[in-house]
Amino acid sequence: MSAAPEVQVFSDRLALARAAAEEFARQSQKAVSQRGRFLVCLAGGSTPLETYRLLANPPYSIELPWKRMVFLWGDERMVPPDDPESNYGQAQQALLQHVPVRPEQVWRIHGEMPADQAVANYVALLRQVAAPGQAWPRLDLVLLGLGADGHIASLFPRQSGALEAGKPVIAVLAEYASRPTQRLTLTPAVFNDARRVLFLVAGAEKAVALAASLDPASDPLHWPARRIDPPHGQAVWLVDAAAYKPPV
Ligand code: 6PG
Repeated sequence: MSAAPEVQVFSDRLALARAAAEEFARQSQKAVSQRGRFLVCLAGGSTPLETYRLLANPPYSIELPWKRMVFLWGDERMVPPDDPESNYGQAQQALLQHVPVRPEQVWRIHGEMPADQAVANYVALLRQVAAPGQAWPRLDLVLLGLGADGHIASLFPRQSGALEAGKPVIAVLAEYASRPTQRLTLTPAVFNDARRVLFLVAGAEKAVALAASLDPASDPLHWPARRIDPPHGQAVWLVDAAAYKPPV
């Protein structure tokens, strides 16, 4: 049975980012000491960028086992990697170019390809990283943001779960905050196999979505975060005080 999600509330975005960087550090050291590598799935959006910047600087940039890490993405906007809207590009700028990570450790989603090819490419790549015979790897850490509309990665409210039908990666079309509408996303099947899922949520505009995402009575079809419940892992929410309204 899965453990109930844990919620940690911080005074502001910087305190949240510091806690997320600490969590990344702990989980990477633990995974490398236990299994020899750290499989981490990065999130897009603005919230994790401060965490990436902290990790790009000492002590983390010096002390963490960067050479043993494998980077994947939970979702990508269908734009080239050097586009300012690319999730890969943003992580590259904020973190990856500042730490000793080789290109072969970085498994980005190819946003510049036609969507069906990019899906096939990432499906093949997940299989390559996975244990023999498995369709996708068991991720050590998944970072996820939360949209003000409740989306996570590119799993949007009211998207049919039938679209997924056991697939690890799907292409979706969704309007949000003037961001690119064509996207690729991993599905809950992959996220729910993870050892640890870390949600990062900041800002008063997220308060309604956060409360609904944490409410065990809310509809998972409307609030996709409710579909994330790793049976052999732990979901942890790092949130700021502006986003968090304690249940009454
Ligand atoms: C993306 C993301 C998306 C993001 C949320 C929150 O590609 O846009 O992966 O799921 O995490 O939209 O974004 P902010 O952190 O910018 O609020």
